[in-house]
Amino acid sequence: MPRSASHILLILACAAGAGASQADQARTPPPAGGAQETALSPESAALERERYVKEVMQGIAGREQEPAGSVFKNVQVFKGMPAGRMLRIMEMGFGRSLGVSCTHCHVAGEWEKEDKPAKQIAREMWAMAQTITSEYLSKIKNLHSERPTVNCTTCHRGQVKPALELGQPGN
Ligand code: HEC
Ligand code: HEC
Repeated sequence: MPRSASHILLILACAAGAGASQADQARTPPPAGGAQETALSPESAALERERYVKEVMQGIAGREQEPAGSVFKNVQVFKGMPAGRMLRIMEMGFGRSLGVSCTHCHVAGEWEKEDKPAKQIAREMWAMAQTITSEYLSKIKNLHSERPTVNCTTCHRGQVKPALELGQPGN
């Protein structure tokens, strides 16, 4: 994997923001795109994610460092990434960034399936964030960061639907 790509993966995996406030969460509309889910509080979502990650980790025990593409059944984007690290991205980069549990994108236990549109959307969002970072941000001169990066948290900030106006999350 080229250096810039692994850099982005790392940032994505680590940088899930502090999450939205309780009040913001309460105003988050139900997920679109056909995903059926009752909105969980950030705390419940976090607990649920932790539980599922533990379950999956147990199932792949001893193979955490093997490429996700050989450990899991239907991996397209994260093929070359260690399986354990991919799960951390699921938990923090995806779940926490959007303020959801795993079941926003998956039917629990049937992780390889493509039955929730949010899963496919997430792949396209990943590609979009990488394109913004590599094609656009990298060409803007005089930015402060050495490698300015856009990831899921940059827009979602703990919510399924990014805000369009300040003070009106989920608008
Ligand atoms: C925002 C959507 C989203 C969330 C939330 C999410 N996932 Fe995923 N998950 C995906 C996508 C997309 C893939 C496929 C990645 C690829 O193609 O490289 C995937 C793949 C997987 C796989 C591989 C399945 C296989 O056999 O191919 C597992 C296991 C998994 N996720 C577990 C989890 C767990 C556990 C959580 C919660 C901690 C979670 N996911 C949260 C989108 C999500
Ligand atoms: C540049 C801003 C931006 C970035 C970066 C971004 N998103 Fe999004 N995302 C959006 C917008 C805007 C929508 C559409 C909301 C709507 O329906 O109006 C959206 C919608 C989604 C949805 C559908 C929500 C639903 O109802 O289920 C998913 C899933 C999603 N994003 C996942 C991700 C993931 C995972 C990442 C990181 C890989 C990411 N997004 C990065 C802006 C962004």
